[in-house]
Amino acid sequence: MAATTTDGSTAVGPVPFKDICGAMPLPSAATPRPSDLRQWVRCYQGTWVPEYHVPGIVAIRESFAPRRGDVVLVSPPKCGTTWLKALAFATMARGAHPPAGAGHPLRRLNPHDCVPFMEMLFAAGCGGKMDTLPSPRLMATHMQHSVLPASITHNPDCKIICMCRDPKDMLVSMFHFASKLAPNISFSDVFEAACEGTNISGPIWDHLLGYWNASKANPEAVLFLRYEEMLRDPVEGVRKLARFVGQPFSPAEEEAGAATDVARLCSFDTLRSLEINRPAAAARYGNDWYFRKGEARDWANHMTPDMARRLDGIIQEKLRGSGLSFA
Ligand code: A3P
Repeated sequence: MAATTTDGSTAVGPVPFKDICGAMPLPSAATPRPSDLRQWVRCYQGTWVPEYHVPGIVAIRESFAPRRGDVVLVSPPKCGTTWLKALAFATMARGAHPPAGAGHPLRRLNPHDCVPFMEMLFAAGCGGKMDTLPSPRLMATHMQHSVLPASITHNPDCKIICMCRDPKDMLVSMFHFASKLAPNISFSDVFEAACEGTNISGPIWDHLLGYWNASKANPEAVLFLRYEEMLRDPVEGVRKLARFVGQPFSPAEEEAGAATDVARLCSFDTLRSLEINRPAAAARYGNDWYFRKGEARDWANHMTPDMARRLDGIIQEKLRGSGLSFA
């Protein structure tokens, strides 16, 4: 399916959401938030989701119309969503936008401008904008597998790519991100919420297991990526992603270094240094907020060994027998 861009040309997906639909609706960062993250969330079907996502989740479940070729990117918050959006977009759109090109959309748009966040879009009553995007479409969500509508999870025409991360690093990243919205947040509160399963998008173990088990049951439909593995070998990660979405790199592309170009374009250093992702004096979410350290094991600078052991123990126990571990 084709759509018309703002300059009148015809587009084949994925195209940057912002070019077709305008800016993503965002909750105001100016609204004061409670310093206890547990007050940001509400239990929806056993999962803890930000209060303002609930209408979006309900609307997605009621009215989202999947299309052949849709690719849904999933991650618990702060597990590399921004990176996954960039990687998937750059990989899938590489025919129209060579990743080494100076005019690549990711050089002028934040990855969140390219791939819409479903809960916020639908919560703002703008879910219909998805219909105007050309196929194949890319979209992202923090919803757990158990909450995603069956029209996605049981649809042979849709694919899901999940990015997960060591929960300890996820919490550290969440602490820093949420501190921008509520400066008095304490790390120990964030930690306790995670241990009891009431962290944002928690329980963490359910989020992990839902997509892990789905990927084991149906590897053609669900790809499970790990942040730390992507850091170790981003080029191989890009190849895996490309194969999964049915767009493997051809020998000629490999020869030309296309997979390396995608990984380089989407690297932390490249994206963070772009003007569009530099700090801006705005009262909304800053694009720079999504780029902090981009490393593994920063948890060691925030947790005592006892805290790390405790959370590792809980996660290990919950994941026991699944084949997934963070040890
Ligand atoms: P840190 O806070 O540990 O640095 P999300 O995109 O889900 O909000 O996750 C944000 C985390 O991913 C942050 O982790 C951020 O720095 C990291 N990140 C963002 N872009 C990245 C990239 N291109 N490569 C690696 N990590 C990235």
